[in-house]
Amino acid sequence: LGAMPLKISVIGLGYLGATHAAAMAELGFEVIGLDVVPSKVEDLSRGVSPVYEPGLEEILQRHVAGLPGSTGRLSFTTSPQEVAAAADVHFICVNTPQRAGEYACDMTYFDSAVEALAPHLDRPALVVGKSTVPVGSAARLARRIAELAPAGEDAELAWNPEFLQEGFAVRDTLHPDRIVIGVTSERSEALLREVYATPLAEGSPLVVTDLPTAELVKTAANAFLATKISFINAMAEVCEVADGDVVKLAEALGHDERIGRKFLRSGIGFGGGCLPKDLRAFFARAGELGASEALQFLREVDSLNMRRRASMVELAREALGGSLLGRRIAVLGAAFKPETDDVRDSPALNIAGQLHLQGAEVSVYDPKAVENARAVFPTLRYTDSAVEAARGAHVVLHLTEWREFQELDPAALGEVVTTRHILDGRNTLDASLWRKADWTYRALGRPTA
Ligand code: UGA
Repeated sequence: LGAMPLKISVIGLGYLGATHAAAMAELGFEVIGLDVVPSKVEDLSRGVSPVYEPGLEEILQRHVAGLPGSTGRLSFTTSPQEVAAAADVHFICVNTPQRAGEYACDMTYFDSAVEALAPHLDRPALVVGKSTVPVGSAARLARRIAELAPAGEDAELAWNPEFLQEGFAVRDTLHPDRIVIGVTSERSEALLREVYATPLAEGSPLVVTDLPTAELVKTAANAFLATKISFINAMAEVCEVADGDVVKLAEALGHDERIGRKFLRSGIGFGGGCLPKDLRAFFARAGELGASEALQFLREVDSLNMRRRASMVELAREALGGSLLGRRIAVLGAAFKPETDDVRDSPALNIAGQLHLQGAEVSVYDPKAVENARAVFPTLRYTDSAVEAARGAHVVLHLTEWREFQELDPAALGEVVTTRHILDGRNTLDASLWRKADWTYRALGRPTA
């Protein structure tokens, strides 16, 4: 690879890939994005993001070729040949979901991305894995690329896990906490240093390592975060029987710098397309490798987390005097967390669904995720506002902590409900404000008054 500026491809244009492609263009590279879904490519080619992610569309508008006033550095295609011909560095960002009916990771999309690209790599190229995968995948894929690519050993593989949080994807990609690269040659390292020259110059630390360690950094980070959340939720269970307040407990714990305040928010637990499935894939993989004992505790982290959803359903039943049948429930929130329209493994939607299946009449409102929620759970009733969802409700459940919900006026909402009963699944509403407006406020792991 000569002195020409690097050209970059991004394969798989979901939350991760669309953001990465846009960020690379923002850093000044010429970028071509590929997805097998033509409608995604069409949307992106018009500067429209296939997902809701704050700030992403602005960057797309600045760079997508053919848009008025754009730099033209960013284009999209469905053709692997085109991508192989255009770029030197290929980031693979396809999703690696949980396998149906199993805990293990489904590598189908990743494997087919490699199978489609590698046969066209006829000059020096670097394929960079970004998706979260079971440790050992990179070594296997490196061998496969060497077999398939006409360039042979000149087509290399590196691993560069991504740590972005949905809702902060643009910030996290342009200003990462750290950059981790797993490489097998100096050439790959030099290329990735060139790609990340700007964030490196701005002080993002770089960790250079081998392929398996790079894969593990990602899985270990997500397992740690999941463990931290389940830890505080375990404390909430203890608070419930001991009459303690988990919110105060977390605040006090967080002042210890060794513990830290982040990811100690207790509530209905973690969801999303990453933490739950990465956790499960991790202990499934450890089992395959003969290290299941080491990760036995992660099974407990998972079941503690799932118990939170059931506890919320029970709290609702209790608030309704023991039966859900025919009772009206308003659910505020469907996304797995605020600032995203993502409902993958969403605790909020899961709880809404359980309540519905047990006979309640559930109305759901979410500022961004209603369309995605409807696609997953069409039989729930969806509304355009919190007030509409709450109309006639016997109990209101706050399940995704959008700012909009913290700003609700309890008195005004109190006018439309049948019973002033609010259950805070995220511990972010101001309990005293609601109680002052004559609501019964309840939350998991907190005293009743
Ligand atoms: C997570 C990680 O935080 C990222 O570092 C990682 O890159 C990403 O997965 C990934 O693997 O791609 P994300 O899934 O976007 O990011 O969401 P988080 O902000 O981590 O939240 C995950 C879940 O935990 C949400 O349901 C959230 O509500 C819940 N959570 C988070 C809590 O219940 N309590 C907390 O204190 C923090």
